[in-house]
Amino acid sequence: MKHIAVLTSGGDAPGMNAAIRAVVRTAIYEDLKVSAIYRGYQGLIENDIETMGPRSVANIIQRGGTILRTARCMEFFDEEGRAKAAGNLKKHGIEGLVVIGGDGSFRGATKLYREHGVAVIGIPGTIDNDIYGTDVSIGFNTAMNIALEAIDRLRDTAASHDRLFLVEVMGRKSGHIALNVGVAGGAEAILVPEAEMAAEDVVKLVINAQERGKSSSIIVIAEGAYEGGAMALRDELRAQCSYEVRTSILGHMQRGGSPSTRDRVLASRLGFHAIKGLLEGQSGVMVGVDKRGTVFVALEDVFEKKKEIDTQLFEIAKVLAI
Ligand code: ADP
Ligand code: F6P
Repeated sequence: MKHIAVLTSGGDAPGMNAAIRAVVRTAIYEDLKVSAIYRGYQGLIENDIETMGPRSVANIIQRGGTILRTARCMEFFDEEGRAKAAGNLKKHGIEGLVVIGGDGSFRGATKLYREHGVAVIGIPGTIDNDIYGTDVSIGFNTAMNIALEAIDRLRDTAASHDRLFLVEVMGRKSGHIALNVGVAGGAEAILVPEAEMAAEDVVKLVINAQERGKSSSIIVIAEGAYEGGAMALRDELRAQCSYEVRTSILGHMQRGGSPSTRDRVLASRLGFHAIKGLLEGQSGVMVGVDKRGTVFVALEDVFEKKKEIDTQLFEIAKVLAI
């Protein structure tokens, strides 16, 4: 293998730039030519490709977002679009492709590998941490830190005004962020899509807490955990509790900003091993981390299997909220 390329796809995540830097510099260190593809699969189809040098990725390790930009590309869902993409890779002599993104991006990469024999390797980059086969994905730690800082701030106001705060965090269809920041922020209740809770049960928890002498409460709710979202739950709580209720939807705030130490180290490790893996002949796999260290997992497993949430955290949250 002499020439590889890297792209970012799907939602941006803090630490993607650190991963791009690691891919580019490791590849050059290994005497490979390396190209950047802008705007994910869209840029690949449109031939938006540029050669990178070690200085092209200077001063990006600390930056959020992705310098390669990212896109959601409908054309790539069609065989025709993917054939165009493969044609552009061939034209440039690119034999290996590193895809930094989430499970949707990995589905696309797998098709490119199966249909056109392009050697592909995935790096998990999403704040949602919903990727099977790796304990953590790039951006998760930073997003949790941002959400937690917001919860701590909201707690000040909740405690000062004897209020109930509902804090909605991101996660698409998964509750990894909510569950972790719920425990770390000492939440009274944590709602996630994997274990939905009825409004009556949330009300019971809140009233019980008041009876135990609590004068304020924080509830963390993942997007998608309650029909109608945090606002709908707020209305139920307002109707059934004596608390003054306030809602805070953290939204995209959680996705931007400088990556944490953990995310930078993770991104550097995964970018480094993605290139090592390609050189060792790995393809159609994602590079991730688990208790064994760095691991390669078949992309099909990654998007077909579901990563479970750590349900023990619910019990811990409940016991610690007495
Ligand atoms: P993420 O990678 O964060 O999960 P998306 O699900 O939006 O983000 O996927 C990113 C892009 O990957 C899509 O816009 C599309 O171009 C490509 N993709 C996703 N799923 C498929 C699929 N089943 N077949 C082909 N390409 C796909
Ligand atoms: O996958 C990352 C994520 O931020 C999810 O948590 C959220 O549901 C989604 O992307 C939001 O997507 P968009 O940026 O397209 O609104």
